[in-house]
Amino acid sequence: MDSNSNILKVEKLTKYFGGLAAVSNCSLNIKQGSITGIIGPNGSGKSTLFNLIAGNLKPNSGQVIFNNENITEVPSYELFTKGLLRTFQIAHEFSNLTVLENLMMVPGNQSGENLINALIKPTLIKREEEVIRAKAYEVIDFLNLKHLANELAGNLSGGQKKLLELGRTMMVDAKIVLLDEVGAGVNRTLLKDLGTAILRLNKEKNYTFCMIEHDMDFISRMCDPVIVMSDGTVLFEGSPEEVKKNEKVIESYLGRGNENNGEKN
Ligand SMILES: Nc1ncnc2c1ncn2[C@@H]1O[C@H](COP(=O)(O)OP(=O)(O)O)[C@@H](O)[C@H]1O
Ligand SMILES: [Mg+2]
Repeated sequence: MDSNSNILKVEKLTKYFGGLAAVSNCSLNIKQGSITGIIGPNGSGKSTLFNLIAGNLKPNSGQVIFNNENITEVPSYELFTKGLLRTFQIAHEFSNLTVLENLMMVPGNQSGENLINALIKPTLIKREEEVIRAKAYEVIDFLNLKHLANELAGNLSGGQKKLLELGRTMMVDAKIVLLDEVGAGVNRTLLKDLGTAILRLNKEKNYTFCMIEHDMDFISRMCDPVIVMSDGTVLFEGSPEEVKKNEKVIESYLGRGNENNGEKN
């Protein structure tokens, strides 16, 4: 951890798609232990920024520092084992597996996946599987999903899928979780559950969160600070109150009309 306890530093990141700079010379810091909000009009580069941080895309220039380590271009599966995780704007569940099985799939280093181990150490694998199963049930309990443990993930509502995605981050010991529109398409009751789970993970398990979100009430309840993006870079950073009354921010939203509620990846 560096002296001012930034768990994540984004430095002058740029990503072009053809001639278009989706993320443009973008710099920002995420404080250890914070729940940082990211807002901004549609197309302002928020999801692309997450893709660059989480190793799903490579930047044209700039760097990403995680716990003082340069992780620029480190692939997502490696970041996963380092405790940097992200969820997607559209949930990525295995629809033909149950909730329990989806959670048990997460740790990638199970001995059972190794054929030699499977042949010569069946008891070790059985014991490991029991540990993972117990952990999965713990997560299911934490998220109030007990009644759905054996339901196929494909049958879950949009909101329940988002809860499951959050649950998948709990199967490894995450340090920072990037949430892309976790509240989109989620009904009020489930949004409250999601919010509670996020706050508890932050307080009890010391997760740092960085969340892209459009729902300003949700942002105000959950986040401090809030970073506002516009045209691929940071326009403003402040408390939710400061953001709401900032002229530049208001103008950036108004200038684009009311296109912010669109569902887009
Ligand atoms: N894979 C891609 N290929 C080409 N253009 C893309 C791709 N992903 C995003 N874009 C473009 O980059 C810009 C930023 O998109 P995005 O990061 O999804 O914004 P946001 O998440 O803020 O809505 C948009 O103009 C979008 O059309
Ligand atoms: Mg997006």
